[in-house]
Amino acid sequence: MSARAAAAIALAGFWWTATGAAARGAAAQEAHGGQVLIEALGCAACHSGVPGGEAIREVAPPFGDGAAPMAPAYVFHYMADPQTVRPDIAPARMPRYELDERQRVALALFVSNDREMRGVDQALRAAMARHPDADRAEGAALFETLNCAGCHVHPEAQSRVTAPDLSLTGVRVRPEWLTGYLANPVTIRPAGPVPGEGGQMPDFRLDAAEAASIADYLLELEGPDGADPPAEVADWEPQALSPFAMQKAGTLLRNRWSCLGCHQLGEDGGRIGPRLDGVAQRLRPGYVRAIMQDPAHLAPGTIMPASLEQPDRLDLIASFLLGRDGEWSGSETVADLPALPDATAPGAELYAARCAPCHGVGGAGDGFNAPFLPVTPTVHADSAAMALRPDDTLYDGIHAGGWILGKSHRMPAFGASLNDGEKRALVAYIRALCRCEGPAWSRDGRRSR
Ligand code: HEC
Ligand code: HEC
Ligand code: HEC
Ligand code: HEC
Repeated sequence: MSARAAAAIALAGFWWTATGAAARGAAAQEAHGGQVLIEALGCAACHSGVPGGEAIREVAPPFGDGAAPMAPAYVFHYMADPQTVRPDIAPARMPRYELDERQRVALALFVSNDREMRGVDQALRAAMARHPDADRAEGAALFETLNCAGCHVHPEAQSRVTAPDLSLTGVRVRPEWLTGYLANPVTIRPAGPVPGEGGQMPDFRLDAAEAASIADYLLELEGPDGADPPAEVADWEPQALSPFAMQKAGTLLRNRWSCLGCHQLGEDGGRIGPRLDGVAQRLRPGYVRAIMQDPAHLAPGTIMPASLEQPDRLDLIASFLLGRDGEWSGSETVADLPALPDATAPGAELYAARCAPCHGVGGAGDGFNAPFLPVTPTVHADSAAMALRPDDTLYDGIHAGGWILGKSHRMPAFGASLNDGEKRALVAYIRALCRCEGPAWSRDGRRSR
């Protein structure tokens, strides 16, 4: 281990044990260079929990009507390999996104704002021929989900701060992983920080010194009020599992619990949450244990339900994940995300966030995660099938998970994460999707909960 990594670990340990505010202040001072960089680079354009955010909008060029038009071909090539061309705004720079050709075509059409398509070169013309339906509207949607608008003012785009709260970095991740990630980011959440909305951590091509100084600063941050992690984040240590216990945990994960409805492990599983491969290299052991116990506390608003209540189960599964090899360093993302749903009713909003990733926005069983499941998620829009289900049955499935109805265990149990009113609102929303009611017998003298 390098001296730098060892120092970073020592620093992270210190974060948990130090009681002297003065000592913390001194360490924060040392990390000052990191803060200057974070503000100049515009991390707060996407992330909460770090300072800055507006400064970058003063230096990144504005786009759209009123701004200087650009040749579409220039944007198309620049997006593949953005180079910092203006030393006068350094260290600010354009970060590199992982984009395919179609996405670069769509962005070129939107960003250049050259509706007559004058600056089109041969390469762009050929790419447009390969993606004839990539259009300006698709570029506009990408511009929002990738949060280009966090840095570039555009009259037709809104900025969105949805990326993880960076003040929790020291709680979440291993210091020795962080510096490498900053220098060379990989995909953690394949469908974006809000599953289904997309979004990427772009690559700022930080040099080693920049990455180290930003990492030092992030590891020193204190989380928002009330977000203090439970004590076990600091103290919990994984157990050494016997080969038998490892096998048991793997079987439970694959065949009993809903975890792989949302998470990928090896070749199996969904794409809603982070891959569970590589957790050992990336996360602090206590964080793995704590997020399984109370996901909403450490990742507010997350779709992940608290589903394992028994402490021995939590210990087993966390130890299993932390005891596996299988480092993951890829950049695979979900390509076909649906348009952001436009939800207003309380049930509709909940459904769009928590259910649509599998069941589809319109309840057709075609969410972006459906192809990664062993069975088709129930088609809630199917009025004939849903008319056979009493409301209470739907409620029970939402509360206790698919297995209770003899359905797939990859349907998660939301019982501990949604309140009674929310579960009822979801049942009502399923009724709206199927335009149907439950069987007559079930509607007379309804059970009251
Ligand atoms: C973190 C801030 C940030 C984000 C996010 C960002 N950019 Fe930039 N971008 C910049 C800065 C700063 C520059 C100026 C770089 C320079 O000229 O050296 C720039 C330059 C550009 C340029 C070249 C403009 C010119 O006049 O040469 C294009 C095109 C561009 N960005 C498009 C995008 C698109 C499309 C996205 C989203 C996919 C995006 N940017 C996201 C900061 C950002
Ligand atoms: C254009 C938006 C954007 C900008 C600008 C941005 N990030 Fe991110 N960042 C993201 C997204 C989205 C994720 C989640 C990626 C994932 O889960 O795969 C992320 C993830 C991260 C993570 C991992 C968080 C975790 O615990 O999972 C760190 C650390 C991070 N960013 C640091 C930074 C720093 C430092 C900067 C400024 C140099 C920065 N980011 C700028 C969008 C951005
Ligand atoms: C309904 C989908 C869903 C289910 C079911 C689910 N998770 Fe999650 N999980 C998520 C999402 C989304 C996140 C990312 C939270 C965030 O933004 O940091 C997550 C985060 C995690 C993390 C932290 C990973 C990281 O890189 O930050 C672990 C570990 C984890 N889940 C384990 C589990 C286990 C074990 C189960 C089964 C008991 C499970 N999850 C069930 C969606 C789910
Ligand atoms: C990780 C993917 C996933 C998520 C997220 C998910 N479901 Fe499911 N759901 C499934 C699968 C798979 C099935 C079972 C299909 C089968 O076995 O035929 C199912 C079945 C159901 C059933 C049983 C239907 C019946 O046949 O009676 C209900 C009710 C249901 N889901 C509601 C919801 C609601 C409401 C949400 C959001 C709070 C949700 N689901 C989120 C995957 C998911």
